[in-house]
Amino acid sequence: MTNKYMYFIANWKMFGDIKSLNTLDKVIKFSKNNNNHKFKLIYCPPYTLLNLFFKKLKKTRIDLGAQNCHQNENDGPFTGFVNSKMLKKIGAKYVIIGHSENRANGETNVLINRKIISSTNNGLKIIFCIGETLMEKKKKHTKKVLKKQIMTGLQKVKKLKNILFAYEPVWSIGTGIIPKNHELENNVEFIKHNLKRNFKIKNPIVLYGGSVSPKNINKLKIVSSIDGFLIGGASQKSKKFIDIVKKTFN
Ligand code: PGA
Repeated sequence: MTNKYMYFIANWKMFGDIKSLNTLDKVIKFSKNNNNHKFKLIYCPPYTLLNLFFKKLKKTRIDLGAQNCHQNENDGPFTGFVNSKMLKKIGAKYVIIGHSENRANGETNVLINRKIISSTNNGLKIIFCIGETLMEKKKKHTKKVLKKQIMTGLQKVKKLKNILFAYEPVWSIGTGIIPKNHELENNVEFIKHNLKRNFKIKNPIVLYGGSVSPKNINKLKIVSSIDGFLIGGASQKSKKFIDIVKKTFN
């Protein structure tokens, strides 16, 4: 950890219904009982649960985020979409932008850049996901890909302080496979170096995401340049989510 907090961000993806709200009780209790620890917990449920999560988390130290938004800063005729202004109004503080599952669905670096600009303009903090595919890794293009994602994604972005970066190798998401420590360290350092050099961000916050679980957290936490974790599957079960946090500090 090189920053003030370790971040633990729960990305629920397209999972969860009203019943899953109960899983929050244990996490709320855990967060209350451990307020001496330097961690920040953030839940990113699907849009359908944002309002319920907001009500439940209102009086806690746990923050709320959404998983994506439309690039338009204001309302408009875009059937099926939600903009960052709407997210802000409903109580979200964060929004995940550039997740590989959305990149795979056609989101380009340019579109992601527009989303980052409109979301920062509307007062949200961004969890900006970057990462290479297995093919890109095999071709040894990882650094080139990461650099391009950063350079285009952050073009003309003013509020750089409001951005957290999540390094998520695509081949690691949902597969149970995590990068080797030296590989991870090397890529996180590369990202931080780029952000410092090209964007003058003094202390960039870079998280790791991809198959994080209570089983591998002891290995991952050794990489000291990592400032937290973006957790998919394992974040849906309160016990696993809490275990990851606990083990990080033990
Ligand atoms: P995973 O997902 O932990 O299920 O691999 C992480 C993510 O996609 O953010």
